[in-house]
Amino acid sequence: MTKGTTVDSPKKAPKTFFVQNYGCQMNVYDGERMADQFAAQGMTSSSKDDADLIVLNTCHIREKAAEKVYSEIGRVGKKRKQANGAQPMIAVAGCVAQAEGAEISRRSPSVDIVVGPQAYHKLPEMIAGVAAGKRGLDLDLPGLDKFDVLPKKRKSGPTAFLTVQEGCDKFCTYCVVPYTRGAEISRSWSALIDEAKALVDGGAKEITLLGQNVNAWTGEDDSGNAVGLEDLIRALDRISGLARIRYVTSHPNDMTDGLIAAHGDVEKLMPYLHLPVQAGSDRILKAMNRSHSADSYRRIIDAVRKIRPDIAISGDFIVGFPGESDGDFEDTMRLVEYINYASAYSFKYSPRPGTPAATMADQVAPQIMDERLQRLQQLLGQQQYEFNRSVIGQSCDILLERKGKYEGQLIGKSPWLQSTHVDMPGLKIGDMVRVQINEAGYSSVTGDVLMQAAA
Ligand code: 5AD
Ligand code: SF4
Repeated sequence: MTKGTTVDSPKKAPKTFFVQNYGCQMNVYDGERMADQFAAQGMTSSSKDDADLIVLNTCHIREKAAEKVYSEIGRVGKKRKQANGAQPMIAVAGCVAQAEGAEISRRSPSVDIVVGPQAYHKLPEMIAGVAAGKRGLDLDLPGLDKFDVLPKKRKSGPTAFLTVQEGCDKFCTYCVVPYTRGAEISRSWSALIDEAKALVDGGAKEITLLGQNVNAWTGEDDSGNAVGLEDLIRALDRISGLARIRYVTSHPNDMTDGLIAAHGDVEKLMPYLHLPVQAGSDRILKAMNRSHSADSYRRIIDAVRKIRPDIAISGDFIVGFPGESDGDFEDTMRLVEYINYASAYSFKYSPRPGTPAATMADQVAPQIMDERLQRLQQLLGQQQYEFNRSVIGQSCDILLERKGKYEGQLIGKSPWLQSTHVDMPGLKIGDMVRVQINEAGYSSVTGDVLMQAAA
């Protein structure tokens, strides 16, 4: 339900908009859909300095992310449009909105709209409300409504996100997601196939399936059979014009044999798996309520590698979870040594209000967290560098996504999700090129173009 309170000086109905995304790729997808919706209403996208409407699509996962949002709310609250000095309409969307909604309205009078991640299809109504003098607040978690209401036609760049599943029922004890995104809900098979086809018609050559627990996706196919993510991937594999499929983020417990098998025989499924483990100590994993062990994680990775030996493994780590001892941390280091990651994200534990871990005894001292994070990141960085070096001399296809720093340079992704720089006149964004990798750094590789590959 959209609630409203009267404001003193109503702002004009916006003609231009700017969406600023924070946090995960699900927010990027949501931000794109908001933009589609505004465009369908006749609004045009504009710079942050001149937009009539600024949407901050926020992230609440760690304290730092939420702090960034608050300082940005302060900054845009004082903002005047460069063109005419008027104050833009300001909407706060996403997970900070969901977690701290009413508080934002109270603390920041310049914010006109607060809208949770499941309610942004109601933005047009809320914007009209503000123009009529009412501030808007909507934090309902109604499930799938927003996907039904949003515009179906999609224009796309060469790479596109497709949210297949939202929310989380896992309740890891450190995590806000089950509270900000709600329960696990899967979108329907037919909606996803239709949207994937529309994305390919609109220009996408690569689709990344998104979900907080993407591999928990379940549904029914057109014949009424119960299906899982691997079946969806196999159906997308049959869409002509689509060259690559990825999915992110997965939970070890939902890594089924069928999904593992797909890595062995689905041609378009890229050799990359992001599988967060968080920690290598079973005691800490239990306290985190992860419901897998270090060993069961190792066995999943072994199984995937058996079927797809070149697969790039990526993960997420938290150091300094309450009660983590030196020995527990060494278990994490040992696990990392065993797995040998191609890339990874690692964070200091950040207590999130309302989560069970925030009030656990034995919170780890900041200095110890710093030292552990530094050691972990050094090891992960070294592994990433070595993985990048391991592809030198190999030929592979690169899907060009954006311009590089230098004239004529373009950047794309290798099958293993490495940023790859190529330099050759005549190429353009969206081209798929055959490249031989000739140089590797910590965060990217460089290739010589051999020829334009068939998409
Ligand atoms: N503190 C630190 N990191 C966290 N993550 C989630 N919650 C927290 C927290 N409270 C990390 C996890 C997750 C990633 C998206 O963010 O590693 O996989
Ligand atoms: Fe958060 Fe755990 Fe759910 Fe991932 S699986 S979104 S870390 S609660």
